[in-house]
Order: sequence, then C-alpha cells, then structure tokens
Amino acid sequence: MTAQGDSAALAARPAPATLGRHGRLSTLEQSEFDIAKAYLPGGALGGNALAEDAKFVFAEAKGARFKDTSGNQYVDYCLGSGAMVLGHAHPAVQQAVIDQVAKGTHYFAYLNEPAVKLAAQVARHVPCVEKLRFTVSGSEATFHAMRLARGFTGREKIMKFEGAYHGHHDYAQVSTAPKRESNFPEGVPDTGGIPKGARDTLLIARYNDLDCARQIAEANRDDLAAIIVEPIQRIISPQPGFLAGLRKIADDVGCLLIFDEVVTGWRLALGGAQEHFGVMPDLSTFGKVLGGGLPVGGVGGRADVMDQCDPGKKGQEGFVYQNGTLNGNPLGMAAALATLAELEKPGTYERLFAIGETLRQGLRKLLARHGIDAAIVGYGPMWHLLFGAKGEPRDYRDIQATDGKKLVAFDTELIRQGFFVLPGNRRFVSLAHTDQDLEASFAAFDAACRKL
Ligand SMILES: Cc1ncc(COP(=O)(O)O)c(C=O)c1O
Repeated sequence: MTAQGDSAALAARPAPATLGRHGRLSTLEQSEFDIAKAYLPGGALGGNALAEDAKFVFAEAKGARFKDTSGNQYVDYCLGSGAMVLGHAHPAVQQAVIDQVAKGTHYFAYLNEPAVKLAAQVARHVPCVEKLRFTVSGSEATFHAMRLARGFTGREKIMKFEGAYHGHHDYAQVSTAPKRESNFPEGVPDTGGIPKGARDTLLIARYNDLDCARQIAEANRDDLAAIIVEPIQRIISPQPGFLAGLRKIADDVGCLLIFDEVVTGWRLALGGAQEHFGVMPDLSTFGKVLGGGLPVGGVGGRADVMDQCDPGKKGQEGFVYQNGTLNGNPLGMAAALATLAELEKPGTYERLFAIGETLRQGLRKLLARHGIDAAIVGYGPMWHLLFGAKGEPRDYRDIQATDGKKLVAFDTELIRQGFFVLPGNRRFVSLAHTDQDLEASFAAFDAACRKL
C-alpha cells in the first residue's frame, strides 16, 4: 500500500466522528498521563509539553495521520519535527527496517553494507560533501561540525544567528530564543548549565543582515573558526544574496561556512538548501529527513576538513575525535537508504512544494473569511502562522514582534480540533498529505478560527 493509501486507510477506520479530542479521554490514556507525571520531569520526554486539555499519548501513526490512546485522530503538521517527509510508517521504510532487523541491528561503529551505500548516496546528492561521518542526532552533527571547524582553523569562535537552533549542546544553546534583546555579538544563554568558556566562544549576529555579520567577522578575524547558519532560519527565508554574502565573508576572513541542513536537507531538494539556493558551504550537517524517522544525523563537507577525523591520525597534532557507539547504525542506515530511494523518484519535490502551497492558500482564505489579523508564511514544505504579522519575517526580532501568546492559544485549540502542530513552532507538510487530509485540516482550522 502507498503512503497515501495508508493515510486514507487510517482516515477510513471506525473512529470518533470528527477529528480531534473534544474532551474524549480513555482511562488508558489518563493512566499513561499519571505514570508520565510520576516518572518524567514535567510529564514530558523532552522540552515540549502540551497543555492539559490538549495533551495526548501517541498510539499509532500512518501517512499524515495519527491516533492517540483514546482513539482520537489527528492530521500531523509536526511530522517528527520535520523528519517524516514521506509520512509515518511508509511501507518502503518499514520493509527496509524489517529486512535489516533480521540481519542484526548493531555492529558498533564499524563498516557495514548499508552505511557504506548511504555514504556514497549522501555524497552524490549533497554538493559540498566529499567525505562525511554519520551521527545519531542533529545536535551531534552540529557539535562535531563546530569541533572540526575549530580543529581545522586553530581558532575558537563560532558565529551563529539570533533565533537559530542548532541543537541541545553547550555551543548551540545560546540566543536560540532569547527573551531579551542583547547587543550583537553578545549572546543570551537559553539554559542553565552552560560554562562561561563555551558561551564566550559564540558570537551572535542578526540573520539576513550582511553588514552585521561582516562587522562581527572582521572584528574577530583572527579568532573566528566558522559561521554556522540555518539556510532557512526556522521559518525565515534568506533574502536574495544573504547566503552568498556569508560565503564571501567566510572567504574574506578565512573561516569555514557551515550550513546546518538538519531541517532543510532532503526537504527542499535532494541536495538540500545548498542545491536549492546554489551556495556551497564548507561543511553541512544532516538529521531529521535523512533517517526516515530513525535516529540518523551526519556531518560532511570538504575532504581536507573531514580527514582530520581519520582514525589513522589518532595521537597526531590536528586529529579531531569523532565517534559514537551508534554511528552508522545499520537500522538507521537501512531506513535512510529506503527514504532517499523514495525521494529520488521524479516529481517528488514539485509535489511536496505544491502540497505546501495548497495548504498555505487554503489557510489564508480561512483567515481572511474570519477577518483574523494573522499571516500564513513559509517556504515550500515549511510553513507557519504569525498573529499580527504583515508578511514574511526577515529576522528573529520580526517574529518576536508578533503575538506569540495568541499563537500558542490558537495552536492548542487546533490540537483539540485534530490539527496537530507543536504550539508556537514552525510546521511542515509531507508527501503523504492527501486532498482528504487537507480538507479535514481546513475544517479543523475553520473550527479553531470560529472559537478564536
Ligand atoms: C536546524 C537544526 N539543527 C539541529 C537540530 C538538532 O537536532 P536533534 O534534535 O536531532 O538533535 C535541530 C532540531 O530541531 C534543528 O532544527
């Protein structure tokens, strides 16, 4: 069955008459909430927890839809935070994982067939990748990209952009979502526990502002190891010339340019944002889509930079350590190969972009019909809703100027209506979103607008 067929099959199952929770809570799901509350800090698996009257426990997911353990059904626009570009439980990915399970699930980080195949495949797709290493998450990928850049240049500082997210480690959790405005390049830590030494290595610039980036880069030219950028920062598209301008700044000061393609990799094109926007970084990081829902990340790029982690150089000056028990794990590699094979089919990205556009148009019509002062923004298969925005944001502060509290309240209502988004966060579409899924979503969105 195709992913579309799966989604339609789940849609057709006997289920509550309407999408969404509408107060339906089984004793099973209530007991799961109780256990989660007792044993997991905040009753959550990570940094994201839903409001009491919108929270749920995932039971099963297929295509663009999932069910909670009370039997309520949702259309998914969070999609594993962007990972599930084929939709959930895609048959080809399932089969690849099942086949690999029978051959063994863990060979430590040693060469194995699917990992070798995948390395060649990634290098074939992604313009900057001459060599690469696999990781298990996007955070590990950006952590290692930064370490490789420091090792290669012998410099310590990394420039990142205000509002950019590069993962959970100490070199990334600065000015991802600052509550106060700092003066560039000063950063604001997003969490307790970051040593001052790590924090002091980060220089914060304004996204889409080449003058700001150049000024900071030139003032720190002897210390700057790399500029790391999300080519599309959260939901903010690069202004024409911005990414090429960063390439020029990096060349002028002799630092590396890192594209964090954990979100944009295989979501915008097989070659990611670097192919889509035609700008070549020195290093690129991967995650999310690559693993097809299994834990796979990676860092790749110029051979001279990547060769620093050649284990034959252990003990030599300039060696950079990159390792992990689950690097190149065959299960993840098999899922990734199956995912890329699906994405390579002709017309994939045209279809993905068209689904994104149909959704945006439909939601804009509903906002206009209800006279709601909000904008549907975004690019291709990524979109967002911003209350009080007049158009596409240019930087983090533009987003801060919109009504974030209203957005979270509206998103929470969307979830109750069966339209799943991570409240306040950017959202996605998948290739599995059928016309039927979009129609059901428009009805849920319409109901949320009426409540507003
Ligand atoms: C651009 C970007 N980089 C890095 C990461 C970190 O990836 P992970 O959550 O897999 O560690 C994320 C996660 O959302 C991301 O969006």
